[in-house]
Amino acid sequence: MNAPLIDPFARAIRYLRVSVTDRCDFRCVYCMSENMTFLPKKELLTLEELDRMCSAFVRLGVEKLRITGGEPLVRREIMTFFRAMSRHLESGALKELTLTTNGSQLERFAADLYAAGVRRVNVSLDTLDEDKFARVTRWGRLPQVLRGIDAAQAAGLRVKINAVALKDFNEDELFTMTEWAASRDIDMTFIEVMPMGDIGNEDRIGQFWSLKDLRADLAGQYTVTDLPDNSGGPARYVRLEETGQKIGFITPMTHNFCESCNRVRITCTGEIYTCLGQEGHSDLRGPLRSSESDTVLDDAIRAAIALKPKGHDFDYSRQTVDGQVSRHMSHTGG
Ligand code: GTP
Ligand code: 5AD
Ligand code: SF4
Repeated sequence: MNAPLIDPFARAIRYLRVSVTDRCDFRCVYCMSENMTFLPKKELLTLEELDRMCSAFVRLGVEKLRITGGEPLVRREIMTFFRAMSRHLESGALKELTLTTNGSQLERFAADLYAAGVRRVNVSLDTLDEDKFARVTRWGRLPQVLRGIDAAQAAGLRVKINAVALKDFNEDELFTMTEWAASRDIDMTFIEVMPMGDIGNEDRIGQFWSLKDLRADLAGQYTVTDLPDNSGGPARYVRLEETGQKIGFITPMTHNFCESCNRVRITCTGEIYTCLGQEGHSDLRGPLRSSESDTVLDDAIRAAIALKPKGHDFDYSRQTVDGQVSRHMSHTGG
């Protein structure tokens, strides 16, 4: 195991989230605006540059690599990159290679992902109602995603569903989604909506639905056991004893988990964001392109980690959206 990067608050950085594209075939209302302008392709890190970047982080102690977007599976030739990363699994340096996807392309890629060493995928799915799905994604088609989930399971991938809790939208579906997932041996994570992206025409306070009572609501129907908090990630997990299912809650708005944060993120243009909920970032594309030397890149990464802030400032409690971050979630992939 390589020595980890340590931030100013003594947190070890073992988890890298890499956005490989800002594009997506959906436009989820809490993630993108309807008319997104995407980056010119030449701005993006090439697959070779992504490889060099990720390999640098692995050299510096990162053990978990999550590929995000936009939608990672719409990036051309992305399987070449997954296959290249599998060498770090084989060497033992990387413990997990995984992705967060909207599921639309899983039918096509599930088997290749498994072959590249991916064992788990997180699929974003907020509703099981076709019309509501088309509304929240603006033009996604639910059956395509459900076929993708089936294909992933058939290929041997463990699936976790991420559902963003949205007021007056999917509150009533919580139990049906949980039951649906249990019947398919799928874990679920419910997420509080975060104030990301320009909110000119999007009402984040209106969308916000607190998950603080959800555990109690579930306990009305199931025997709920808290699981030890050892993931280093944002989710707190419980097990539903009747189904054996794991349910996660990501509650940045009502329960902040920043003190145990273990992660940083790279955008598709090679910027490093050391906190999802802050604007501060550093450029790594410059150092990457300026020199063939690993030392230059490693030093730039260390310098960026030295600036990692303590946590986010999201707050809806005063009926204003404090701590709002203007970039869209798709920029850093969540
Ligand atoms: P696991 O490996 O399954 O634990 O996944 P994960 O929770 O690390 O990743 P995933 O991509 O499934 O993220 C789920 C949600 O958590 C997304 O909405 C992310 O935006 C959110 N999230 C992930 N990391 C952070 C973080 O550091 N801060 C905050 N506020 N939210 C985060
Ligand atoms: N708040 C919370 N979660 C969000 N996601 C996208 N935008 C937001 C937001 N504003 C989620 C997606 C996906 C993950 C990468 O981020 O649903 O599961
Ligand atoms: Fe695409 Fe995911 Fe953003 Fe929806 S949440 S628009 S699926 S990147």
